[in-house]
Amino acid sequence: MSVEHQPFVRLADPVEDAAPLFDVCKKTVGPALRAGTPNLIAPYIWNVPYLRLCPEYCFAVDDGNGNAVGYVICAPNTLEFAKKWREEYLPILESLDPLLRKPEMDPPADWGKDLTLGVLQLLYNPEDMLHDACPRLVEEYPAHLHIDILPDYQRKGFGKKLMEALWDKLREAGVKGVHLVMEGRNLDAERFYMAIGYSRFDEIVDEGKSGERGKDVNGNLWMVKRL
Ligand SMILES: CC(C)(COP(=O)(O)OP(=O)(O)OC[C@H]1O[C@@H](n2cnc3c(N)ncnc32)[C@H](O)[C@@H]1OP(=O)(O)O)[C@@H](O)C(=O)NCCC(=O)NCCS
Repeated sequence: MSVEHQPFVRLADPVEDAAPLFDVCKKTVGPALRAGTPNLIAPYIWNVPYLRLCPEYCFAVDDGNGNAVGYVICAPNTLEFAKKWREEYLPILESLDPLLRKPEMDPPADWGKDLTLGVLQLLYNPEDMLHDACPRLVEEYPAHLHIDILPDYQRKGFGKKLMEALWDKLREAGVKGVHLVMEGRNLDAERFYMAIGYSRFDEIVDEGKSGERGKDVNGNLWMVKRL
């Protein structure tokens, strides 16, 4: 009689899980980036550096047979992470994939017209994640994260379990708060974060252009949680 293996949450393995989690990122990234060259580059921004630079803060959903089908990945200290990204990650990018050649950084890409240039500029400008115009975000919530699960494993409680595993790990390390930046159009994700205890960052950012607290000029929401 075959035994049914239940999915569960475990620490991610930066080597064994690298390819499947790269794939999860490609499949779950925002709709605008789900095709063509931007889709091939996206995981090098929102997945690979976390597993390489701080694997002890990365957790996976295991399908019960050893296959990783979702993740939460986190940088416990965004300031140090941006520095490591510049010093240790940027120099190896071209050896990972020739697509990742350093682009002209100036002028900034028009994302509506050239998505590939936009993602490459983001990749080569890790200091963006420090939100210099609003340093309080990273001061009060030093960690930041990304979470994605393949559709077949969504709405089964694994997102919450991944978060709980991560919060425990961050608390153990004495990290006082965590933030994330998400597309404002992703209403399902916003509901998820609110349901498990995140809230909008309480400041009006980008000179109040959006008129809402914790919403930047690009329509992204800044979600935060104290630990
Ligand atoms: C967002 C995501 C990480 C949530 O993980 P999940 O495993 O689906 O969520 P859970 O099952 O742990 O949900 C926990 C609670 O959040 C709330 N929730 C989750 N998804 C929700 C939705 N679509 N609508 C309303 N509430 C939702 C519910 O209260 C849920 O508890 P319940 O199922 O007992 O009612 C996952 O759905 C996902 O990867 N989505 C696609 C990629 C994505 O959007 N990533 C986030 C980018 S910012």
